[in-house]
Amino acid sequence: MPYHDMRDYLAALEQHGLLRRIAREVDHNWEVACLAKWMYQALPVDQRFGLYFEKVKGFDGPVVTGALGASPASVAMALHCEVDEINATVLAALRHPRKPVTVDAGACQEIVHRGKDANLSRLPVVTWTPGKDKAPYLTTIVVTRDHDTGAANMGVYRTMVRDPGSAVVNLAPNRQGTKNVRTWTDKGKTAPIAWVIASEPVIHLATVLNLPPGRDEIEIAGALKGAPIELVRCKTVDLLVPATAEIIVEAEIAPGETDDEGPFGEFAGYMGQVEKRPLARITAITHRRDPVFYGYTSQMPPSESTTIQSLMNGGVILHLLRDQLGEQSVHDAAIDLTFGGLLGHCVVAMTPQYPGHGKRVGRMVADTTVLKRVTVVDADVDIRDPSHIEWALNSRFDPRRDTVIIDDVFVPLQIDPSVRDARGHVTPGSKLVLDATQKIDAGPFSLPPRDMMMRALDTWQACGLPKFDIPKRAKLRIERS
Ligand SMILES: Cc1cc2nc3c(=O)[nH]c(=O)nc-3n(C[C@H](O)[C@H](O)[C@H](O)COP(=O)(O)O)c2cc1C
Repeated sequence: MPYHDMRDYLAALEQHGLLRRIAREVDHNWEVACLAKWMYQALPVDQRFGLYFEKVKGFDGPVVTGALGASPASVAMALHCEVDEINATVLAALRHPRKPVTVDAGACQEIVHRGKDANLSRLPVVTWTPGKDKAPYLTTIVVTRDHDTGAANMGVYRTMVRDPGSAVVNLAPNRQGTKNVRTWTDKGKTAPIAWVIASEPVIHLATVLNLPPGRDEIEIAGALKGAPIELVRCKTVDLLVPATAEIIVEAEIAPGETDDEGPFGEFAGYMGQVEKRPLARITAITHRRDPVFYGYTSQMPPSESTTIQSLMNGGVILHLLRDQLGEQSVHDAAIDLTFGGLLGHCVVAMTPQYPGHGKRVGRMVADTTVLKRVTVVDADVDIRDPSHIEWALNSRFDPRRDTVIIDDVFVPLQIDPSVRDARGHVTPGSKLVLDATQKIDAGPFSLPPRDMMMRALDTWQACGLPKFDIPKRAKLRIERS
């Protein structure tokens, strides 16, 4: 059964040991973030878990972070699939979107605060890089709508609490949310905006998909859920939001109103810069009874943000290559979990059909996304195992022949320090494609034949040697031995 809301999902995670409750009282001004940082900085990915802080100083309700993106296991649980089915699940949803339905009432509006009561200090908004950040901020789903077409968009845009009644939204110039807001403010009208805090997990995950304009994340969320998402109309702005969400913040952005945003800890691992960003005036806060507050852990990678963005966008690359560019020879794509979605390193597995095919596919990915590095390997390499990728690069890749550098690609990201000059200006960046597919048949692998290796496993066990699960790397190699 799909999860009805965030509570259902948290219960499932807890049952599977993927969520830990912290009973001791913690301070949201520093302790929540520092504990989350230890989880991501110290624990190996397969030992991470979501954090459920039961008692937060000065607040009645709990604060949760890391639950959606502790590890691939948590994302798989949110999608009701196995870890190695995440890409296939996302790809199927992209191919068969499912429209939402509008309902008359939703649990997210059990309690309604308007006017002066709509006060952000009601919420335990976390300070994420304590000691360095300017202010606490929301990291959750942001809903906007195009004035002319009516099309809605969901994205995650950091939102700084300026004072109890207003917030500054990090709507970067190229974002769909920014374009939507401008369709109102350019006409001299106030733009509606809403934050969705803790909804059905598929909505959170669909929000971080990098989709072309015109594709509605809520329809992908419906496809991931296997049922239409129920939406309810906001109380003070003309937007639809998920009916079973824990908390909704509604606001308006007036034309020309901006304020300084930042500095804040950024996903590239450094403190960011101060930018002028749109100011939102809060018009309502609605919530369920006893709401759960959620914020994604981001900043220094690896983090919840890098984990969910990387895992969800692997399916987007596959959709692009197979369905839009017709490259059926591509088997799989994975983005490393350490730099956040389409900005990091993508590894593509394929069966090249002609000389130069690997390079061509690598270049297609580099040219059509903001990814900085693309490595292409054969289908017999486990693209989620760095040691296997290293082996392919060592044994199948000649740097002079198999490297493509794409120069002067505009990377409009101030927060990536590698494309900044000494004065802090963004320079045209570059991209790297490495084709580590085999160019010739190098002959059989230097491993004993498969049946001999499998028989030797009996001897291994009989000798009382430590038990292990055969890694995919070894399976792929033994298959061909
Ligand atoms: C935790 C987290 C924080 C993010 N913060 C921002 C942000 O402040 N500004 C931004 O432009 N993108 C941010 N992103 C990335 C966007 O949400 C993401 O790329 C999304 O797909 C953009 O959607 P859009 O292209 O529809 O605007 C963040 C993502 C996550 C997971």
